[in-house]
Amino acid sequence: MNGFDELFIRAKAARARAYAPYSRFPVGAALRAESGAVFAGCNVENAAYPLGVCAETSAISAMIAAGERRIAEILVLGPGAERIAPCGACRQRIAEFAGPGARVHMADDSGQVETLRLSELLPRVFTLGGG
Ligand code: THU
Repeated sequence: MNGFDELFIRAKAARARAYAPYSRFPVGAALRAESGAVFAGCNVENAAYPLGVCAETSAISAMIAAGERRIAEILVLGPGAERIAPCGACRQRIAEFAGPGARVHMADDSGQVETLRLSELLPRVFTLGGG
């Protein structure tokens, strides 16, 4: 299995477990840490809507809980034929743990994918200390 396929399969499995009763918009994400290990996540909504957590954020939490700190690539899988891009907040969360060259794959159900560098999605990232 190639690297992309592994991320795709893991994101799809996580998406199947998404908790999205309010939006009915299940999302899965899977990331490869720099060690090579893969971590997946899904969106987890809440009756108090703003408390919902995105799939990318869940995957990052799984990575951190496992003791890893660096993202090499991340894949986000929306509900169907549509390719979705990570929300602005998740771009910033990804940037906390990834360099500007990290690849962000936006896939649809059929496995069609568009890949951008994090720096293309978030050109002027906020960092403490300026820059
Ligand atoms: N969502 C994600 O999980 N990731 C994204 O990149 C975009 C949006 C979730 C949040 C919410 O549970 C649902 O999709 C609809 O916005």
